[in-house]
Amino acid sequence: MTTGCIILAGGAGKRMKSERPKVLCEVLKKPMLGWVMDTAERFGFDETAVITGYKKECTEEFVNKRGGIVYTYFQPEQKGTGDAVKQAAEFIEAAEYICVLNGDAPFVDEETLKKSLKLHKSAKAAVTVITAEIADPTGYGRIIRDGSGRFTAIREQKDCSPEEAKICEVNSGAYWFNAKALLGALPRLTDSNASGEFYLTDCVELIGGAQAYKSENSDIVLGANTRRGLLELNEKARLRVIERLLDEGVSFISTDGVIIGADVKIGCDTTVLPNTMILGKTVIGKGCEIGANSHIEDCTVGNNVILNNVQAYSSTVEDNVKIGPFTQLRPGTVIRKGVKIGDFVEVKNSDIGENTSIAHLTYIGDSDVGRGVNFGCGCVTANYDGVNKFRTEIGSYAFIGCNTNLIAPVKIGENATTAAGSTISKEVPPNSLALERSQTRIIENWEKNFKRKKK
Ligand code: UD1
Ligand code: CA
Repeated sequence: MTTGCIILAGGAGKRMKSERPKVLCEVLKKPMLGWVMDTAERFGFDETAVITGYKKECTEEFVNKRGGIVYTYFQPEQKGTGDAVKQAAEFIEAAEYICVLNGDAPFVDEETLKKSLKLHKSAKAAVTVITAEIADPTGYGRIIRDGSGRFTAIREQKDCSPEEAKICEVNSGAYWFNAKALLGALPRLTDSNASGEFYLTDCVELIGGAQAYKSENSDIVLGANTRRGLLELNEKARLRVIERLLDEGVSFISTDGVIIGADVKIGCDTTVLPNTMILGKTVIGKGCEIGANSHIEDCTVGNNVILNNVQAYSSTVEDNVKIGPFTQLRPGTVIRKGVKIGDFVEVKNSDIGENTSIAHLTYIGDSDVGRGVNFGCGCVTANYDGVNKFRTEIGSYAFIGCNTNLIAPVKIGENATTAAGSTISKEVPPNSLALERSQTRIIENWEKNFKRKKK
């Protein structure tokens, strides 16, 4: 392989006070490690490896769930970033260029990686460090230059002299190495420093002739070591996504409580209203109104859709649909064009045909519903018998009367009607009425007689 990427994700991150590895702490509901892996994927490395360590099963679970071919190497003891990279020696041996990235610095971008690799190659450097100038360098490794401005070393905060501590150019934690030079330097690292750790950053001095690629985008260095830092990253990322969407023609009346994931796509003339989270791989079309108070995750939404106070997960909503308020779409749901869904309706793993109306207080689970169906108030598909789940099939233009229970598996024919209050467990043929309730009995003068008897 020509280019290999090693992502460091073994540290415990004690200051984060988490029971999980720090790199799994989330920015805009995506683990920081996910941000870095996504960047690596967009860059297009030949191979990618993740170094696990503290609570490795959590990190491995995330990596496996995310998919793609990614190697993992386990660092048994968290003895520093240099020791972490050492675990991937066989991976390094197979590569020409190795890029090392910190799993807790989510904003590194593929453009910076490309430009820095270009510098690394043209300068024929053995190591190139990606740096940035920041106002408050506290906590970062400082970029040390000699009298002629040549980059010579990285000094960690704890090991800095008071003079060095004032340097505002810092190490982002992203580097390009020639694989051979890195392999040569790793065994020579020592832990004789203020932290007693094997610093990867010491490779700069050991290898020599290092280049520093100073990024114009200083956000790339931002990492989170504490919950406070994590909150700052979240707010930065949140505003960045909103800025991008504004450029793309999306409107906000106010961005209060609006949280949109970095991978979300939204078409022009769509308005996002307050207190709305749009997350995961959601794609929303043009001219929609999303919110207020909505949570849309991993959904595909068409054009001119209104989602008002809706919770929707892993579902598809086609054009000209109106949903809400107080509606939940659970995974596996498809809402076809022109459907209207009203308050206190839950739809799960179902296909709802065009122009169907489900106006109020209804549960539709594991169902295939045709077009133009009308559900009265309070309909329920009884899809679960306590052990198994079954499907309900409803033909187009059927009319499901108020308070109908449909005991699955069951089939309602096209244009059939169920009478209000019916519990249907038998197939209803097309064009027929299914009525399942006892006749009303009237007992006259009931109230008087009843009261007299009581006396
Ligand atoms: C590191 C750099 C510092 C840089 C900063 C940028 C070193 C010595 N210092 O400091 O110069 O400015 O990143 O964010 O590298 N990790 C392991 N195994 C370990 C220790 C850490 O896998 O034994 C992983 C962590 O999970 C983390 C990454 O390496 O993702 C960086 O480790 P961290 O301890 O956060 O380094 P910093 O102190 O931030
Ligand atoms: Ca860090």
